[in-house]
Amino acid sequence: MLGITRTSTAAIDTLPAEDFQALRGFSAAPAFAQPRSFYTANPYQRPLRPQDVTETLLRTQLTSADLATPEHLLAQRLLLNIYEQDLVFLPKPPAKLDMKAFKGFYEPAHMALGKQVRPRLEQCTYGWLKEEVHINGAWCEESFIAHTDKVLDDVAKAPSRLHQVLTGSHDPRRAARFFLIQCAGDFLSEASAMARNVLGNAGAHTSELFKILIDEYGYGIDKKKHSSIFEGLLEQAGLSSQVHHYWQFYTASSLSLTNYFHYISANHGEFFRYIGAMYYTEASLALTTGHQSRAIRDIFGDEVSTEYFDEHQHIDVHHGRMALQRLIIPMIRQYGKQVIPDIIRGFEEFRLLQDQADEELYAHIKWHDELDAHRARAAMLHASKPADARFTEAQGEVSVLHTHAGNELFWVEEGELDFVVTPQLSVKLSAGEGIIIPKGMLHGTQVTSPSCTYTVTAL
Ligand SMILES: [Fe+2]
Ligand SMILES: [Fe+2]
Ligand SMILES: [Fe+2]
Repeated sequence: MLGITRTSTAAIDTLPAEDFQALRGFSAAPAFAQPRSFYTANPYQRPLRPQDVTETLLRTQLTSADLATPEHLLAQRLLLNIYEQDLVFLPKPPAKLDMKAFKGFYEPAHMALGKQVRPRLEQCTYGWLKEEVHINGAWCEESFIAHTDKVLDDVAKAPSRLHQVLTGSHDPRRAARFFLIQCAGDFLSEASAMARNVLGNAGAHTSELFKILIDEYGYGIDKKKHSSIFEGLLEQAGLSSQVHHYWQFYTASSLSLTNYFHYISANHGEFFRYIGAMYYTEASLALTTGHQSRAIRDIFGDEVSTEYFDEHQHIDVHHGRMALQRLIIPMIRQYGKQVIPDIIRGFEEFRLLQDQADEELYAHIKWHDELDAHRARAAMLHASKPADARFTEAQGEVSVLHTHAGNELFWVEEGELDFVVTPQLSVKLSAGEGIIIPKGMLHGTQVTSPSCTYTVTAL
């Protein structure tokens, strides 16, 4: 039967010791070290919490049920660093170029360590897709078009949950900024993964893809480059447009969207999968950017230009059509039906990842809105729960934003700290105060007294 089904499994295999050593060596780079702030000053700072790096990461294939775990976040952070060592990043004024950090980030021996573990990290983060998305039956050009038209038609008809969630938040501006931060990880170097696919010689297909790429890059006009338009949007919304300034605040599933495109673009055997995913994203963006534009306008009024989303609402109609008419159909006719399963796989996988990223974004906005209720619940529970662990940290110490695999009771016994969930929302927790941290929700802390002792308890 023709169809797409999803199931769930996990797989574990053996691990050569040198792979774990490579991962340890890669993670120990100064670029990924413990920071003194929640924000990065240049594109080469990407704190990782290297203390969380364990062998398990390379041995595990996560399932879709594990995506809220700290392992997933760590694996996605590692992968983005590995992929982005292939891209050129320079700091934007007023940040100055630190030659040592710049050279260090692109150090060849260090990059080789990342490349060594990359396939295992890809297996860890994306192996589950093959287990869960099955492309059954004999697809042909007509059934491919009928299926993808139906999916896109459903996207076009669906009401916008994003608009609903952002405008319905207790603090729509804070919610919108968190959404923009999630976009920033990708949009500030937009279409970089696409560029990996236009080298070499795939005949006319290379040229057709190149046409989409040069649109994304503004035909060499910097202010028309999509990433430049997005920089303007961030600044108008009161946010930094420095690449990865908000590195610590990306959710795992936001990172996963960017990394998925690198994954299927860095591995050229997945080229047809890339074409399918690119078709989904271009064609669906033509539909969803209208809602995104409306949300930004409703929340910020005239203060923030919606040009970025409006431009995509217009150009991605063409990009979607170009992907189908100029790439997919000619490829099927030239190479035969054998390429369709990969194309449809990319289309379906990216659709699934996009849905997951949306859900994770909405869950975070809800958590931000309900922070006070989580503090009140902690106060009620604290007396009845013995602590699992106790930590003391010195003034200024930052705990890089992270998540937990289960709900956790966090309680300050002595001193005080800032508990941060998004750049626009942090609370000061003093001795005798705490908070319940729900599973999978990003949070970090910075000690603001000479020292601070806190406990954590799994719930
Ligand atoms: Fe674009
Ligand atoms: Fe596009
Ligand atoms: Fe924590």
